[in-house]
Amino acid sequence: MDSRDSQVPDDAAFGPHYDDLPDGVVITDAEGLVVVFNRAAERITELPAAGALGRQLDEALPLLDLEGRLWWACTDPYGGLAIRTGQPETRLLLPDGRDVLVTARYVREHGGGPIARVVIGLRDTSARARVERRHADLIATVAHELRSPLTSVKGFTATLLAKWERFTDDQRKLMLETVDADADRVTRLIAELLDIARIDSGRLQLGCYPIDLADLVTEQVAGMIAAGQSAERFDVQSIDLPAVWADPDKLRQVVANLLENAVRHGEGRVTISFKELTEPEDDERKGEGPPMIAMTVDDEGPGIPEAMLGRVFTRFWRGNRRGGTGLGLYIVKGIVEAHGGSITVGRAPGGGARFRFTMPAA
Ligand SMILES: Nc1ncnc2c1ncn2[C@@H]1O[C@H](COP(=O)(O)OP(=O)(O)OP(=O)(O)O)[C@@H](O)[C@H]1O
Ligand SMILES: [Mg+2]
Repeated sequence: MDSRDSQVPDDAAFGPHYDDLPDGVVITDAEGLVVVFNRAAERITELPAAGALGRQLDEALPLLDLEGRLWWACTDPYGGLAIRTGQPETRLLLPDGRDVLVTARYVREHGGGPIARVVIGLRDTSARARVERRHADLIATVAHELRSPLTSVKGFTATLLAKWERFTDDQRKLMLETVDADADRVTRLIAELLDIARIDSGRLQLGCYPIDLADLVTEQVAGMIAAGQSAERFDVQSIDLPAVWADPDKLRQVVANLLENAVRHGEGRVTISFKELTEPEDDERKGEGPPMIAMTVDDEGPGIPEAMLGRVFTRFWRGNRRGGTGLGLYIVKGIVEAHGGSITVGRAPGGGARFRFTMPAA
């Protein structure tokens, strides 16, 4: 029997054929015999439709719950209370031990009375399992990142409390400075994680204004020089530019991250240049969109190895141990894309890394 020859009107009235559905669908009739077993159900269960059609549900699709009980015997769709309308999504085991997500809907004549058919949805768990594994990995990484500064804080405070008199003022000050820096690290990490949660859930809120990008860069460079960087390290090639349309705090975060990376991971001179992209052939403009402004940050350090270029924008990836958590560029990319821009990484003419991003002109 073909699933097309069922009593369930699955052609004209039901629109496209069941085999077109991405999810597995199994339907039984009033007697509990399988009348539909679509292609996705075959793929997910690895059971042939030919062996299932026309058979009782519990033989055709023998599912076990996680305790190993026969699912259809437990839920008893044909024998249970007439007010039951189905089963919520449940994780069950196939005969070969793989798991599958199952939902069921009990369709009754005239809304009550005996069951006319049971419609069962089957869904692969692998995509969801991957997501869950990624979440678990993320939590493990976050926990690890938080633990190392806190371990250091605890070590120093415990030592100071236990042996206060044995240290000189200078030693105590040194330890407290370390504690202070570690507390800053934790605060910063938490702020970054909150940014990531906003970016990942699409809740990043932007309050955009026209901003002079070159001014903003000059201001940030001045801040870095005031904080102890040599002025020789920066070359801002400022040109006459229209303003960009951006959230000032977020844009500052983007620029600060790229400059800080160039100084910390790169070497030599950091060159910042701008370009107005007005020509349709400027590929970053993606054809007909608004005019864009591009900003490029080049350094003269080792650069990023070719094979790693694809990974720099992923979270927690870091190529070295120079202090960071590997979240900076992930956040930068999220912010730039939220503004409708894009960011790329490559090799600078001087050998180091080149980061280039675009923002819409105001
Ligand atoms: N200009 C650069 N030159 C060489 N390597 C770089 C440069 N910028 C980034 N990288 C590499 O990319 C990695 C990821 O950068 P990202 O900014 O995401 O993280 P981080 O700087 O290590 O930490 P965070 O920014 O969260 O403090 C860095 O660890 C570094 O190895
Ligand atoms: Mg960084």
